[in-house]
Amino acid sequence: MNSLLRCCLIKPINIKNTTSFINKLNPKSIIQKSNNYNNINKNILNKFKDSSSNYFINSNKILEICNNNNNNNKYNVNKRNYSSSSNSGNNNNNNYNNKNNNNNNESFYKKFENSFEIKRIKDILFIIVGTFVIFKIYDNKIGIVFCENEIDKETILNDPYDKIPNEIIVELKDSAKDDNIIEESDEDDGIKKISSFKLFFKTIGNDIWLFGFGIITAFFSSWVGLQIPKVFGVLIDCTKNGDSLQGPAIQAIFILLAQAGLNFLYSTMISVACERYSARLRSTLFGAMLEQEIGFFDQNSTGDLINRLSSDVQLVRSALKHSVSLGVKSFGQIVGGVISLILISPKLSLGMMTILPTMVSVGTFYAGWLKSLSVRSQRAQAQSTIVAEEAIGNIRTVQAFSNQHYESERFIEKNQHSLALSTESGVQIGIFQGVTSLALNSVSLLVYWYGGTLVSRGEMTGGQLTSFIIHTMNMQSSFSQLSILFTQIMSAMGGMQRITELINRVPLINSNQGFKLRELKGEIKFINVDFKYPTRPHVHVLNGLNLTLKPGQVVALAGSSGGGKSTIAGLLERFYDISNGDITIDGYSIKQLNAKWLRSRIGIVSQEPSLFATTILENLRYGNPNATEDEIIEAAKLANAHQFISNFPKGYETIVGERGVQLSGGQKQRIAIARAILKNPQIIILDEATSALDSQSELLVQTALDNLMKGRTTLVIAHRLSTVQNADLIGVLSHGKIAEFGNHNELMNHKGLYYKLVQRQLSQQQQ
Ligand SMILES: Nc1ncnc2c1ncn2[C@@H]1O[C@H](COP(=O)(O)OP(=O)(O)OP(=O)(O)O)[C@@H](O)[C@H]1O
Ligand SMILES: [Mg+2]
Repeated sequence: MNSLLRCCLIKPINIKNTTSFINKLNPKSIIQKSNNYNNINKNILNKFKDSSSNYFINSNKILEICNNNNNNNKYNVNKRNYSSSSNSGNNNNNNYNNKNNNNNNESFYKKFENSFEIKRIKDILFIIVGTFVIFKIYDNKIGIVFCENEIDKETILNDPYDKIPNEIIVELKDSAKDDNIIEESDEDDGIKKISSFKLFFKTIGNDIWLFGFGIITAFFSSWVGLQIPKVFGVLIDCTKNGDSLQGPAIQAIFILLAQAGLNFLYSTMISVACERYSARLRSTLFGAMLEQEIGFFDQNSTGDLINRLSSDVQLVRSALKHSVSLGVKSFGQIVGGVISLILISPKLSLGMMTILPTMVSVGTFYAGWLKSLSVRSQRAQAQSTIVAEEAIGNIRTVQAFSNQHYESERFIEKNQHSLALSTESGVQIGIFQGVTSLALNSVSLLVYWYGGTLVSRGEMTGGQLTSFIIHTMNMQSSFSQLSILFTQIMSAMGGMQRITELINRVPLINSNQGFKLRELKGEIKFINVDFKYPTRPHVHVLNGLNLTLKPGQVVALAGSSGGGKSTIAGLLERFYDISNGDITIDGYSIKQLNAKWLRSRIGIVSQEPSLFATTILENLRYGNPNATEDEIIEAAKLANAHQFISNFPKGYETIVGERGVQLSGGQKQRIAIARAILKNPQIIILDEATSALDSQSELLVQTALDNLMKGRTTLVIAHRLSTVQNADLIGVLSHGKIAEFGNHNELMNHKGLYYKLVQRQLSQQQQ
């Protein structure tokens, strides 16, 4: 490391470098690219992560300044300051002497200085951000050192040659040198997490106003509602005293009409706001799910994820809606009711106030316990849904094995468990409601008794007692509504937590990050690749695999079933990240490349082609959404699919059923091939692409595939000898490694594994 530092050369950064530079400063990509990750003190790393938001602001600022000053020539910085103090080993100085770049370099540098503290010690340039991160730039690499404190920093600055510990070296692809890099993604890498609270405000957006007005209107409605008992009391007293009823009656009508109007307003506003909110939440959640890496879907069942998308969002939506429509109103009624009761009769209210809080606390405690019971019952119900979904999804297998009874039993068993819990929950809720109503009715009885006594003593009027009783009854129903709402809110909070967790989950593979290449030649290298599936961390599927596919070459993979051939195809698509080694495409590590871009350049015909439950046309268009109908038909002809499609009464408009169930295996494969042709990729993966075709169709499709493969790097996985032997090179996979590599004749002469495989197949064919 020291020798590397000694011979390094400091030079100004080309303005074009900034995007690249800043992107590389992204802590996540640094961590991903570092082989020294384990050497770094975890605490320091965490600190770095914590400071990331601050840090991002800085780097964004620089980017902004640089962009603004892109064409600004006014800076006249003494270039000597930034030029190299040594010229050893630098062949790229020409790039930086380019006249067009000078001013850009200088303006960038000037601004760079303003944002960071820059120190030059001997021939190393240090850029210090905050107190504990130091970047030094040399050649086209940046080294990053994490310093825990000022003392660390000083030590490194004082003697940079000997004291630099655990640095991470990140290579900068200099865009001046590398014209092939066309774009780097600036998309958020998802490090910033959001709380449930913030997520609520972000998702509800401008509808917060509607929601807020809804709450205010609900409060008004409950306040108006509080006037009703009062007016009724007045009406009774007027009747008793023989006064005119007209005034109070008109007042009562107005109050009732006002309340009806307010009820309509708040419930409409809240409903609209909540429906829009839940639709947005569902979309955000679905979007977050789609961004997760494939390993995540290996670990979470479809049923479970669908449940989150439907049940959890539903729970949140209804709790939110009811919190306002019932909660706010009931709360308003209780508070207003208490005040009214005190105003009507302090003595009677005092009696009631001693009993009510005790009842409410006991009720709340009990409701909390009920909530946990209902969560358990919901979970059990979700389990039974998963069983049902699995059975229906695999109905052909279920019926082929005549296992309807078995599946039904499995469902009943899960259902029984859920039933037991929900029955218990139902009984407990019944007890809760029974006890609550008994308690509340007892309170009413006490009010009648004590209130009657007060009326007979002349301490309150009959009308006042009536108002008091109506208030008590309203409060009683408000209390029971609140207790139901409480359980609902508790389960919704659980749901919201699960939703937030998923939305916050940073995918292990961020497919938006990394750069794209202007030109893709299609050279693929697997270098000492080790791989284990995340769900089976103890099974090494690939063990130091080395494989090279030169641009335009057709390389076939042979080997026993379960040997890892499809796994190699999946790794090339970056569905999973490898544990050791590297996979490079045109010399760039697959981890540096933008995965979405990469996948768009790879055409795969997989072992089990899956289609969507729509028309054949739409399924074909999935390969290239911009393809015209003529292009689609042309691709279908090439894939030998046009004929059978045209024979369907509805032709290209034929619906293929769920996962293409209404088509034969060979038809599905031909559609998948046409889809790949439409994509026009530079790299092709054919994983048993023609295994379901008869030899006649295979011959026809093979011609199409040969056309498709021309000039493109192709990885062919096939069991059939005929497909394998035409490849330029053949790799035989054994124990997670390429055990033999060469063309058909070479491998046959070698008389090793490939020879054995061929012999076995030939003898099978003869039988
Ligand atoms: N998603 C997964 N999670 C865990 N293990 C997996 C997963 N997919 C495959 N495996 C395991 O990885 C190993 C290699 O599987 P792979 O599908 O790559 O084999 P293959 O060589 O393509 O076999 P075949 O010729 O039968 O298609 C197998 O042992 C398999 O059980
Ligand atoms: Mg396979």
